[in-house]
Amino acid sequence: MQFFADSVNLEEIRRARALNLADGVTTNPTLVAKSGRSHEQAIREISGLLSGPVNVETLSLNAEGIVKEGRIYRTWGKNVVVKIPICREGLAAVAKLAAEGIPTTVTLVFSAAQALLAAKAGARYVCPFVGRLDDAGENGIEVVRQIVGAFREARYTTQVLAASIRTPEHVAGAAAAGAHAVTIPHKLIDPMLAHPLTDKGIAQFLEDAKKYK
Ligand code: E4P
Repeated sequence: MQFFADSVNLEEIRRARALNLADGVTTNPTLVAKSGRSHEQAIREISGLLSGPVNVETLSLNAEGIVKEGRIYRTWGKNVVVKIPICREGLAAVAKLAAEGIPTTVTLVFSAAQALLAAKAGARYVCPFVGRLDDAGENGIEVVRQIVGAFREARYTTQVLAASIRTPEHVAGAAAAGAHAVTIPHKLIDPMLAHPLTDKGIAQFLEDAKKYK
C-alpha cells in the first residue's frame, strides 16, 4: 500500500519523504487556502519535490471548465493528477481528460456506487472520505472495503486512495480493507509510531545495557 502526504506544507512533505511516506501528495482548496501561498506557487513547489503523483483539485462545476483547469494544472508539474469532485459534469471531464492521457482522481466519494461511476469514467484513483463518513455515523472503512471488492469483481484497475484519514486505526483498517493507498495528515505519523510498551521496552534495554561487561 502506498502512503501519500495529505499536505501542501513543503517541510511536512520533506519529513514524510524521509520516512518513505510520500509516494504522492494530495492537496485540496482548504489546505491551499491555509498555506497562504498562491495555488500555482504551492503546486509548482510540491511537484518539484517529488516524482510521485501530486493531486490538484479543480473548482469549476461544468465539464468544460474542469477540463480547462486540468490542462492548466498539468503545466504546473508533469506529475500533476487532476482531482475532481464526483458529479455528472466531473465524470464527463474525467472521461475527456482520460482520452487526452491526463490522469484524474475522483474525490469526495462516499459510496461504492459513486466509486463505480468514477472508475467506469476512467479515473486513475478514487478517494473515499473515511473520517467524514464516520462523522456522518457511517463506517468509513466498510465503504473502502466495499469499493475494493466492487472494483475487483468488476475488474476495474482504478486505485482506491483512502482519504480523510484521522486515526492510526483508519490507516490499519484501510490497508486491511485492501486500499491501494492512504493519504495521511503529517500529525498522524507520531500517533502511528507511538506505543507505551515500545517506550517501556527502550527504557528497560537502555538500563540493562549499563550492565554490559
Ligand atoms: C484529501 O484528498 C482530502 O481532501 C482530505 O483527506 C480530506 O480530509 P478531511 O476530511 O480531514 O478534511
